[in-house]
Amino acid sequence: QELELQLEAIEKGGYEHFMLKEIHEQPRSIRDCFRGRLNVEKGWVGLGGIKDYEKQLANAKRIIMVACGTSWHAGLVGEYLFEELTRIPVEVEYASEFRYRNPIISEEDIVIAISQSGETADTLAALNLAKDKGATILGICNVVGSSISRVTDAGSYTHAGPEIGVASTKAFTAQVTVLTLMALTIARNKGTLKESDFRRIITELDLIPEKVSRILDKNEKLEEISKVYKDASNALYLGRGISFPVALEGALKLKEISYIHAEGYPAAEMKHGPIALIDEEMPVFVIATKGTSYEKVVSNIQEVKARKGKIIAVITEGDEQVKGMADHYIEIPETDDHLVPLLATIPLQLISYHVAVMRGANVDQPRNLAKSVTVE
Ligand code: G6P
Repeated sequence: QELELQLEAIEKGGYEHFMLKEIHEQPRSIRDCFRGRLNVEKGWVGLGGIKDYEKQLANAKRIIMVACGTSWHAGLVGEYLFEELTRIPVEVEYASEFRYRNPIISEEDIVIAISQSGETADTLAALNLAKDKGATILGICNVVGSSISRVTDAGSYTHAGPEIGVASTKAFTAQVTVLTLMALTIARNKGTLKESDFRRIITELDLIPEKVSRILDKNEKLEEISKVYKDASNALYLGRGISFPVALEGALKLKEISYIHAEGYPAAEMKHGPIALIDEEMPVFVIATKGTSYEKVVSNIQEVKARKGKIIAVITEGDEQVKGMADHYIEIPETDDHLVPLLATIPLQLISYHVAVMRGANVDQPRNLAKSVTVE
């Protein structure tokens, strides 16, 4: 028993929980994910695992992504990236819904399964269904040799290393990294991205690990913010565009480990429902980084303020406007619009972690949840 505890302490590498360790590993896991797949100097990206399918991907009429939980959120980020960069229509489906509704799939389709464990029963079944209908099936898995990675025609591993905490953190950012590399590879082959844009994005991608480190350095401030909201019974997360899935993931992290009811919403949809819930008791986390929908998000923040909701904003470094409006703000380094999810996710992970710890919850093994769901 004593020995087991000591071993576990060693595995946690000095961190109190696996989740905290895994959050802090992200600069390295993201870097590991693009090792050998990205060369900024040569202006090159490539994914060895799907090399034989590059042409087919570039010619695809549509791509379907299937996943569950956090991996489904990564798929939603992927949808924005793929459609924007490659102009291929993408559908992102909950594996459990997809498999039970007689989906329309043909031999022309490419189905990509996203799964940390590679063992999720619904995702595996969805993939087998697509395979039976003749689609090409690809995988984005973390666990090497897992069932999904074995059943797929080809795929790319995320290389995030073992993830022990039930709430997924570093696997998510690695999935988003692989999806970014995939979208860039296809865009390059298809000619849908200007050379200068391609260069700019890969240069920025290479800087992401260091920028993640800079966000992790703000841990103390994030702990302070968490203290203020730890007793909330509800929370709302808002984002637009590529940051909408980040809002969903932020809300999922909070509910999974702290048991606070939380909802992620596209910021503009707030007025069609959730706005009714806003009062002085309601913390509203908003991803309000500089970029295409910035001004729109600013007006969404004003709508929340007018109803006395509390704003915790994730903003771009140096943004004075939202700083002045928010009850709390977290600055993240500036990056290319397409890469914002890789940064904006980090502070939300840490806040969920701290809130859960302060509430005395079992962070690494939340009640009723399993790391991999191998039953239906
Ligand atoms: C479980 C885990 C989640 C995970 C989901 C999908 O619910 O608790 O963290 O996102 O399964 O798992 P997968 O291994 O397929 O990514």
